[in-house]
Amino acid sequence: MLIEIATKDARLGMYVHAVEGGWLASPFWRSHLVLSKPSEIAKLVKAGIATITIDTSKGVGPAQAAPPAPPVDDVPAIADRRVASEDAPYSGPERRLRKRGSSELDRARETVERSKEAVSRMFAEVRMGNAVDAADVSPLVDEIAESVARDATAMLKVTRLKNKDEYTYLHSVAVCALMINFARRLNLPEDEVRDLGMAGLLHDIGKMSVPSALLDKPGALEPGERSVVQSHPVKGHQLLSESENISAAVLDVCLHHHERVDGTGYPERLTGEQLSLHARMSAICDVYDAVTSNRPYKRPWSPSEALARMRSWEGHFDPALFAIFIESIGIYPVGGLVRMGDNKLAVILTANDEDPTAPRVRCFYDIPAQAMVPHRDVDTGGGASHRTILRSERGEHWFGDNWSAIHAQVQAGPVDDAAPRRTAVGA
Ligand SMILES: [Fe+2]
Repeated sequence: MLIEIATKDARLGMYVHAVEGGWLASPFWRSHLVLSKPSEIAKLVKAGIATITIDTSKGVGPAQAAPPAPPVDDVPAIADRRVASEDAPYSGPERRLRKRGSSELDRARETVERSKEAVSRMFAEVRMGNAVDAADVSPLVDEIAESVARDATAMLKVTRLKNKDEYTYLHSVAVCALMINFARRLNLPEDEVRDLGMAGLLHDIGKMSVPSALLDKPGALEPGERSVVQSHPVKGHQLLSESENISAAVLDVCLHHHERVDGTGYPERLTGEQLSLHARMSAICDVYDAVTSNRPYKRPWSPSEALARMRSWEGHFDPALFAIFIESIGIYPVGGLVRMGDNKLAVILTANDEDPTAPRVRCFYDIPAQAMVPHRDVDTGGGASHRTILRSERGEHWFGDNWSAIHAQVQAGPVDDAAPRRTAVGA
């Protein structure tokens, strides 16, 4: 459906069918365009184009558009507040998990239930002023690590299901599992993997020093309230510094999981160069779990939607690390570039609600032949190599400065419109 909107309301993911004044007035050479970068929107605005016509059958509509990165003050609303809805998200069965049978899912549920109770007890102790001993927490981290090793998808699915009473505890368990899975994808030594699992489990322990009324408060926080909530990394770090057997990695993650690579995070406003690998990993895991969980006035984002939106937040996360995180959870954001098992490059077209790990893709490039090929849409999953996603790829690596244009063409073009032709391949 064609809709005319004000250019100022343009959002990433929109398919631009026409611009006010025709394409001669457009700052782009292409006759159609999927808005994939904030700079493209800025160009339209700068060119003085007041309205654009978008095609919602080929891109996102006004209500679905990906938002810009939230201001730094909104992050606590995403990551630091407990949820108010009882509805557990994603309670519907997922095809792949049904096929897998109930055994591993049941085991993951048992592990998560035990973990939640243990974290709840530990946090209650902290509320009463008692210190944490890492030796007491290690068996819990080991159990979560083993569950992630057996079946990461089952574990990560179970930890996404939260209600308001268990959010804080389950968020800790979820970030623990995400950190373990992420660290293994990075091939870190197993000792370090466990250390990062513990860091995930304890990263928000400073929230025990924040009044529950603030963590539970629906609606916006007053500036004074926000600063209290934002004090939790420092308070947690202080508490852990006085505890037994706490590693440097755990302390680092506790203090720095709300920092941003552009230096606009808190509490120390460190930049990407100043932040450790562990801190940069934790920022990603923390926000991913928060935005895929229920929140007071906002539906939870699906995993693929969350990844697509988080990827668009410039300056928030380490982009290279974020790409590896996406690989680690096996869920690919719509619009992302992937390598298929038959050595074709493909763009993720649509998410699969039943199985987030099996999206629909559009293949368009043959790597061995170094040539564009006619577009072919494929439903991934099922085991055949041409249906298997191997890993994420960087478009700039393969196509250099041409990637933005090629990406838009692939997303917008009819299935059979790409005539085979040679394309220079980047180093
Ligand atoms: Fe936090």
